[in-house]
Amino acid sequence: MAHIPVLLKETINYLNVQPKRNFIDATAGEGGHSFAILRRNGPEGKVLSLEIDKEIYSKLKNEASELFEKDFSLSQRLILVNDSYANLKKVIEANKFKPVAGILFDLGICSWQIDDSQRGFSYLKDEPLDMRFNKNQELTAAEIINFWEVGELEEIFREYGEEKYSKRLALAIKEARRKERIITTGRLLEILKKNLPKNYDKGRKHFAARTFQALRIAVNNELENLKSGLRQSWEILEPEGRIVIISFHSLEDRIVKIFFKEKAKEKKLKILTKKPIVPQEEEIKANPRAHSAKLRAAEKS
Ligand SMILES: C[S@@+](CC[C@H](N)C(=O)[O-])C[C@H]1O[C@@H](n2cnc3c(N)ncnc32)[C@H](O)[C@@H]1O
Repeated sequence: MAHIPVLLKETINYLNVQPKRNFIDATAGEGGHSFAILRRNGPEGKVLSLEIDKEIYSKLKNEASELFEKDFSLSQRLILVNDSYANLKKVIEANKFKPVAGILFDLGICSWQIDDSQRGFSYLKDEPLDMRFNKNQELTAAEIINFWEVGELEEIFREYGEEKYSKRLALAIKEARRKERIITTGRLLEILKKNLPKNYDKGRKHFAARTFQALRIAVNNELENLKSGLRQSWEILEPEGRIVIISFHSLEDRIVKIFFKEKAKEKKLKILTKKPIVPQEEEIKANPRAHSAKLRAAEKS
């Protein structure tokens, strides 16, 4: 299934996309938001798009090349970079990409990673326990599950998954891995299922959702990267530049909310969304992935 950009209209509005101005898409994914910005900031405005996942980056580059053939001016206006937004400032300096009128973060993973990457992001598939965005990094989900101490497992399940049975699950994993390494999502699922109540959370959430979220966050250092990306974004933005963040779970949203509040207190930023913007029913119907999305926006003072 192709990726449908979430909260697209709202993103464009809050970024205040105007002709001739430059924008950064910190999480390019399948390019939905980047291309939409490019359609509105021409003929001179540029977009610099970062993507940490090399396979997605390559797909995006191919797609962009096809568009460049039809419209050469686009090739002068879109800069694609295979890097993490944790390195935002370095990337901006290397590309001399200033001034910056707006930065977008559409957090999380995209459809291709869940459906086709075969890296174990989905609890609905039996795949290797990998979960890396960047395949050059050493730490994988299998490494965590098989080699981290029980206390560390318990901590990430509790902190990153908000899993109330974190201790029970950590102990069960320790027991299971003594017999045989746990190397697939299918095997992990069996262990979780055996150790969680039958009708966990009244079936509102898949029983493995919390553990999988915790593992993905830990493997990719997502929360620390987000904090760092936000700090760097604020430094890079021109005065009155906009920052827009779409998050998909409460841990991310909390980090954004706190960052905005602290900067607003220091009068360094104006919050534009008192409450987070959420998708309308029609958008959720057309794109179920949007159901937990929350958009927050702010303007640099
Ligand atoms: C929800 S998708 C973005 C979808 C995109 N807005 C679109 O419309 O196609 C999030 C993307 O961010 C990427 N990503 C995650 N962490 C990143 C990081 N630290 N730096 C850059 N990209 C990252 C993921 O690989 C994924 O492709």
